[in-house]
Amino acid sequence: MFLSRLQLENFRNYGKLDLSFDAPVTLVQGRNGQGKTNLLEAVYYLATSKSRHARTEREVVNRAAADEPIPYGRIRGEVMRTEQSTTLEILFTRRNDRLNFTKQARVNGAPRRSMDLIGHLRAVLFLPEDLTLISGSPSERRRYIDVALCQIDRVYCQALSRYQKVVTQRNSLLRQLQEQGQVDSPSVAARLSFWDEQLVEHGTRVLTRRHRFLADLAPIAGSVHAELTQQQEALGLLYLPSFNTGLYSDGDYLRLRESEEVRAEELTLTEADAEIIGQRFRERLEVRRGVELKAGSSLYGPHRDELVFTVNGWNLRTYGSRGQQRTGALALKLAELQAMAEATGEKPILLLDDVMSELDAQRRAALLDALTDVRQGIVTTTDWGQFSAEFQQGAQRLQIEAGVATAAEGGPRPVA
Ligand SMILES: Nc1ncnc2c1ncn2[C@@H]1O[C@H](COP(=O)(O)OP(=O)(O)OP(=O)(O)O)[C@@H](O)[C@H]1O
Ligand SMILES: [Mg+2]
Repeated sequence: MFLSRLQLENFRNYGKLDLSFDAPVTLVQGRNGQGKTNLLEAVYYLATSKSRHARTEREVVNRAAADEPIPYGRIRGEVMRTEQSTTLEILFTRRNDRLNFTKQARVNGAPRRSMDLIGHLRAVLFLPEDLTLISGSPSERRRYIDVALCQIDRVYCQALSRYQKVVTQRNSLLRQLQEQGQVDSPSVAARLSFWDEQLVEHGTRVLTRRHRFLADLAPIAGSVHAELTQQQEALGLLYLPSFNTGLYSDGDYLRLRESEEVRAEELTLTEADAEIIGQRFRERLEVRRGVELKAGSSLYGPHRDELVFTVNGWNLRTYGSRGQQRTGALALKLAELQAMAEATGEKPILLLDDVMSELDAQRRAALLDALTDVRQGIVTTTDWGQFSAEFQQGAQRLQIEAGVATAAEGGPRPVA
């Protein structure tokens, strides 16, 4: 797929922007704070209907425009696929309470739920902070896998959103029971049983789908990683649920939890496994009801699961050097690109936000290599000199200053 045009109105530091993309690679240069990340954020927003950075819609609407009588913001993109072109749009308008903005999605002009935007444009975004994915918190890794999966599997996205609602509801009931000083009893079990069943049902879907996704991703990430480390290190990728679903031996499960050396294989799940997992989940909730009542929140399920990275069998998060962790994260990102292409039969757009400066020569080469493999890449940089004259010549070159984009004039800029 190819994003042929992007139009912004009152988005972040852009008043009005109308860009046409006409080359496989667009190279965007600008000094700090000029709008490079904002531009990629807009493209990513169209792909995922969410921002990677903002917590509220209000944040993304241009601050100056927010004071106008009828404030609004807009992202609009034209996506070309083999036979057809699709117009995607997200419109931000002020909510009645005047405190925040709401977003409305449109596909070819017709209003759609924002979830239905997903799938029309697929993008893999790579930010410098993604290099800390492995050292970061478990929630970042869960979010990573959720965003990647949602783009290729709408059913997953629905199950996830239902699951999250169930967790919220169940948590408020648990908190209420905790405040009332309720202990584990048949009446408490009866009050919880509806939410337990919902938790198990949607949770098992989320868990098994993530499991399968990782199983697909692991061999690809492994081979990218082997190449990056000259076959010196073998990367492993394992899904670690918040309770042992029965897929690992108790010993392996414990070792994984304790970050001890383990050579467990990522298993392929069958339908029968899903049933066993659901059963184990249910048992877990029964056995640990007292603990959850005491905590006043849901302690088990995919919202507490973990992604474990291993190198030659040892836990990369606990034992890896910074460089090794960054290499693992890069391999994962590149694998995501391939996995997404395989799952959908179309190559996603690759968005690289100023990541070159964070990488050494060999890793840069791997990333540039990935760029030659996609139909479209949009790459930002503060410094033209990070790219060879040849690379610059083959690319559409844009310059951004204070939210205004212009075609970069003259020949390629000198290489540092
Ligand atoms: N809602 C908003 N309204 C107006 N300006 C905004 C809004 N949100 C962010 N900005 C501005 O956008 C600018 C940052 O843009 P961006 O993050 O895209 O910069 P950048 O070119 O990626 O810089 P760097 O090289 O430092 O990463 C800042 O000046 C910030 O104040
Ligand atoms: Mg930036």
